[in-house]
This record gives sequence, C-alpha cells and structure tokens, in this order.
Amino acid sequence: MTEMIFAEANGRVIPTEDKIFGISNRAKAMMAERGKDRVINATIGALLDDDGNLIVLSSVDKVFRMLTPEEYAAYAPIGGIPEFKEAVKKDMFRDFKPKCFTEAVATPGGTGAIRNVVSNYSNYGDKVLTTDWHWAPYGTIMSEQGRSLETFQLFTEEGGFNHFSLKEKMYEIFKLQDRLIIILNTPSHNPTGYALNKQEWKSVIDMLNNIPSDKKVTLLIDAAYSDFAGEESEARDYLPLIEELNDNVLPIIAHSLSKSYTLYGLRTGAMICMAKTKEVAEEFKRACEFSSRASWSNCARAGQAILSKIYADPELLQMVMEERKTYRDMLIKRGETFMEEAKKVGLKTLPFRSGFFITIPCSNPEEVASKLEEQGIFIVPLAKGLRVSGASISIEACRKLPAAIKALIK
Ligand SMILES: Cc1ncc(COP(=O)(O)O)c(C=O)c1O
Repeated sequence: MTEMIFAEANGRVIPTEDKIFGISNRAKAMMAERGKDRVINATIGALLDDDGNLIVLSSVDKVFRMLTPEEYAAYAPIGGIPEFKEAVKKDMFRDFKPKCFTEAVATPGGTGAIRNVVSNYSNYGDKVLTTDWHWAPYGTIMSEQGRSLETFQLFTEEGGFNHFSLKEKMYEIFKLQDRLIIILNTPSHNPTGYALNKQEWKSVIDMLNNIPSDKKVTLLIDAAYSDFAGEESEARDYLPLIEELNDNVLPIIAHSLSKSYTLYGLRTGAMICMAKTKEVAEEFKRACEFSSRASWSNCARAGQAILSKIYADPELLQMVMEERKTYRDMLIKRGETFMEEAKKVGLKTLPFRSGFFITIPCSNPEEVASKLEEQGIFIVPLAKGLRVSGASISIEACRKLPAAIKALIK
C-alpha cells in the first residue's frame, strides 16, 4: 500500500499489487529458475491439466475459429445480441422452465453482473451482505462504488449452512436500510467448495419470504461455477425454489462463461433476473443496460456469438457438454484425492462439496503460506485460512499437499 501521488483514493484502499496474481507471479519465477516439476502452483482460478497447461474446450475453440469477422468485430447491442440473450437463459435454466419474467443483460463475465447489481439495487453508502468466506473482489466492487461489505457466518458448528447468522445480520442491517443485496455464491463456492443443498435453500427462501413487506431484498446468486459442481442439472436443482420467493425479493443470477466454456479472457457473462412482474423485469433491463453503457458500453461480441452458435446446434451443444464432463470428472477426482489424503493425515478442511477450491482453516495462514513457498508450494493465505486450487494442480500434487500443509499448521 502506498500514498496516492496524483490519483484520488476516494475512500478506496488500493493495493500496489493484486495479492493472488502476486503469489502466482512468484510461482512462475520459481518455475523458470528451478524447473516446472519442482513447483506446485495451487493459486490459479482456472482449470489446468496435470502439466500445468490451460485447458480450453476444443469444441468451443472450434466454434471460435468458425466466426466471421462481422461476428467478432462488430459492436454488439448494449444488452447483448438477441440470440445470446436467449442462449444464455437456456444455458442457465436448462430443463427448468421459469414461469416468472426473465430478462438477460450481457456482462463482461460474472464480475460485470455483480458490479451492475450493486449499482442498481443498492444506494450509495449501503451495506451489502455475503458470507464470511468469500471471493475477495466482492469487497473491491463495493468500495469502488461507495458501498461496504458485511458478512455472516457461512457455517454452523456442524458444518451446515448457517441461516441463523444470515437472519441475524440481515435484520441488523434492516435497522439501517430498507433494502439489501445478499450475495450467495453456490454451488462450488469460492473459496470453500460448499454448495447449499435443497433443504438449505428452502430455509433461506422461507426466511426471505418472512421479511416485512416494506423491506426489499435482491438475492444475487453468483453461479460462476455451476458447470463444475457435479451433474449439471443437479447443480441447478434450486432454481424452481427461487420462484417461490415473494415479490419484495428479486433473484438475479450472475452467470459466467469464463469457467463453463473456458472463455476466461473473452469476458462473457450475463445477469439474469427472475422477476414476479413484467414491470420489474423491464426496469431491470433498462437500469442495467444504462449501467453497462456507462462502464464498458457493449460487451465483446465473440463470446456471445460462440454461445449463440452452440445453442443453435444440438450436436455441438452435446459435444461441449461431453467434453466439459471429462474435465469436470478430472476436477472432482482431484478434490476427492485431496480430501482422502487430508483425512488420512488429520488435516481439517472447511466443508467441501465440489469445485475449484478447498479451504483449510488455520490461525497462521501467512506463516504457513510463506514456509510452503520455500518448499516450492504456492497457495493463497486468506484472513482465517489457506485456499488451495485443485483446479490448477495435478492428482499427484493433491496427494502430496495435505501432509505438507498439516506439518506447518498450528
Ligand atoms: C466467486 C466468483 N464469482 C465470480 C467470478 C467471475 O469471474 P468472471 O468475471 O471471469 O466471469 C469468479 C471468478 O473467479 C469467482 O471466483
């Protein structure tokens, strides 16, 4: 952290370097010096193969290479090309046929969707609520827009979803403001790998349906990891429950093509609302497109064209799904291997169900992470634990890591 020279901090704390990219850069430097096979880089939030190469779905790559110059070079409409808006809803909902009013607005990844929800469904100075374990950029997005992040405890003592803590915090904030955004990142929560099960969803929905009628909640479901959480329709089994929410709760899903289609750099995603009335859905579209215009204007066209083509061709869609399943199975196997080893050596992790990351709670994360770095193992120290990316390391590394971490944990 340094003093600002010419720029204005405007209430933001701006670090000199992004923490995770900083660690990853040190890992890359060590790989160059000692050799790739002597370093484990478990910091990366992208799916890599066992040799550390980025996995790009070949079926998606094939569609990318078929695009005509007009399809990738022309401006897209602010809210997204019409075929994309339909395709992205199908991609999110799959077999579920919502009866509510849905609208989709294209965004640059899930990040853009989160940003637009904050700018349109909270006031300047508001608190936004999420889980104590969460993806750090949520805080960055809040501070950039003059909001602040409040947290509730994700887990009960028994390792289930802590809806009591959610309720307590929600009512605490209701004393200060009448509207509230709640962010739930599920399934395959970053950084723990947790997913709310149907029962847990039901209790959340019950609770939200009992808030006073003069309060409004925007429920932002960050679904960035939906397609790497296990069977794809099972990972969406909570969607019908969302329709049971009262009209003073607006569900908005942040959908991303970064992980699902391995299109991280094409910056493609969407925000999808599930509104009770046509008016609320139309307002969503109008307000969010306004925000898009003011921040990134229109989104990159290529990713939108790719998804539109995939959904226009059932055979292609089948190919993408089959290929993705292969890699999802690989990721699941890595997670299982890590958890089996952790159990063997007595390493306690936070409740993990599936996904890119596993978290180990501990009281000395910075110390453990820096000692691991000396051994050529790079993981991310969080405030109260260590985040390991199973997405970026081999099965062999998953076998090795639990004992190495356990040896340093207090
Ligand atoms: C929890 C979570 N939400 C959202 C995103 C959004 O990613 P993108 O903007 O690339 O779609 C990520 C990416 O790492 C994430 O981990």
